[in-house]
Amino acid sequence: MSTPHTAKSSLLRIENLTPQSAHRIIQQALKLKSGQSTPQVSFAKRLVAALVFFEPSTRTRFSFEVACHRMGVHPTAFLADSTTSMAKGETLHETMNTLIAMRPDLVVVRAPAHAQLEKILAETSIPVLNAGTGVEEHPTQALLDAMTIIERKGRIESERILFVGDVSHSRVANSGIQLFKRLGAEVACSSPVDMKPQSKLWVDARHFENLKDGLQWATVCIGLRIQKERHGRSMGQEELQSYIRQFRLDKKNISDLSADALIMHPGPFVPEEDFSEELLQDSRVALHDQVTNGVYVRMATIGDLLGIPCT
Ligand code: NCD
Repeated sequence: MSTPHTAKSSLLRIENLTPQSAHRIIQQALKLKSGQSTPQVSFAKRLVAALVFFEPSTRTRFSFEVACHRMGVHPTAFLADSTTSMAKGETLHETMNTLIAMRPDLVVVRAPAHAQLEKILAETSIPVLNAGTGVEEHPTQALLDAMTIIERKGRIESERILFVGDVSHSRVANSGIQLFKRLGAEVACSSPVDMKPQSKLWVDARHFENLKDGLQWATVCIGLRIQKERHGRSMGQEELQSYIRQFRLDKKNISDLSADALIMHPGPFVPEEDFSEELLQDSRVALHDQVTNGVYVRMATIGDLLGIPCT
């Protein structure tokens, strides 16, 4: 089947984005949000996006679905659960090959490891959008976070952005540090020593063992969920209680953050562990702005990859 668009490329890693292309997507997302730009939905009316999720998701999947509808693209979702042939023993790779053989116009995929995505991409000419891979990348989350910072603080350049918590297992933080540095921000993290990131992305980044010091430094603070499913061991009660005392973002622990700082979290949060629900009332908190902005960033990215014109 020939498609009416000229696909530009795929978005798998932050390194696929220049600062200019990231700014272009964010500016386009802001225009779509304000109504200054409108997608020509009739252009995309025969296009189909396969949303393929091999890991759980609420906001990212729903956000991509809403974004597809708003761009005039038909989303069709595959969730690896007990109703699919994966329950019969089919591999991720063959499942992917099967879905790709149906020739969707775009594949949005969340996979447990980045290498699996690279392999899939090498075998297809269909544009692929990364919706989160293992601990490695989550590029549209980084873009929506950058958009939220620009929208709320007026800029991202020179902002001091602090990731808090389980940084070593966070694809959100790993994509975030790359994009934010590209856009001229400073990035640091605060975590227990065993959650301090070891990858080369973080070699030059400051690490605050004490959250108080990190919050005094930061102009933007991004909380993270404890990624227990990636630990390969269970956290003892004592260890968990010590984490909560020192790193949970709550009224008491956040008191050292300045009045004009921004508080973010990619979600989902666990109230008893990483982000207290009462903080949602704090005017510095931008969690739901992040969710709203995610739809516009994904609309802009889909429009870019599929060449959907906007007025
Ligand atoms: C995160 C993810 O899946 O990487 N959430 C998201 O996409 N907004 C973070 C998490 O699972 O903790």
